[in-house]
Amino acid sequence: MASVVNPLSGLPVLELGAGTGVITRAILERGIQPHRVTSVEYSKDFYDGLVRRFPGVDFRLGNAFALEQTLGERREKFDCVISAVPMLSFPMQQRLTLLEDLLARIPAGRPVIQITYGLLSPVLKMPDRYIVSHYDFVVRNVPPAQLWTYQRAV
Ligand SMILES: C[S@@+](CC[C@H](N)C(=O)[O-])C[C@H]1O[C@@H](n2cnc3c(N)ncnc32)[C@H](O)[C@@H]1O
Repeated sequence: MASVVNPLSGLPVLELGAGTGVITRAILERGIQPHRVTSVEYSKDFYDGLVRRFPGVDFRLGNAFALEQTLGERREKFDCVISAVPMLSFPMQQRLTLLEDLLARIPAGRPVIQITYGLLSPVLKMPDRYIVSHYDFVVRNVPPAQLWTYQRAV
C-alpha cells in the first residue's frame, strides 16, 4: 500500500485505520519524515501503542468518517491517502461521502488506496466523479485482501 507514496511530492501522507502500525512503518520506510505522516485510529488501545512505537507521527484518535472533527481545521493537501478502515462495515452512502472527502484532500491524479477483504471495489464505481482501479491482490495478508485505488482525473 505504501508503494503509492511519492516521497518527492513534499506533501504529507494521510493514513486511516493504522491498527498495529504495519503500514505506518512502511510509509516511514518510504522516506517520509514522521511529522509528515498524519494517521487516524479509532481504537484507544491501538492509538496508545502507535504513539509509543512511532514517536513524531501525527496520530489522531478519532473517526475517519468524521475528518472535519478528527483533523480539525487542517486544509493542507496530502500526497495520497492510505486507508485500512473496514469500509464494508459501513453503509455505501457513508463510504461515498468519505471517499469524496478524501479526494478533496489530495491533488487530482493522486490516489486513495483502500484495502478490502471483498472481491469487488468497496466503493461504487462513479466514472463521472473518479477513476477506480484494481491495484493488487495481497495473498500474504491474512485473510488475503484486495487493494483498490480511487483518483480524480487530471
Ligand atoms: C484492518 S485493521 C488495520 C490494519 C493495520 N494496517 C495494521 O497494521 O494493524 C483496521 C483498523 O481500522 C480501525 N478503524 C475501524 N473503524 C475506524 C474508523 N471509523 N476510523 C478510524 N479507524 C478505524 C480499526 O481500529 C483497526 O485498527
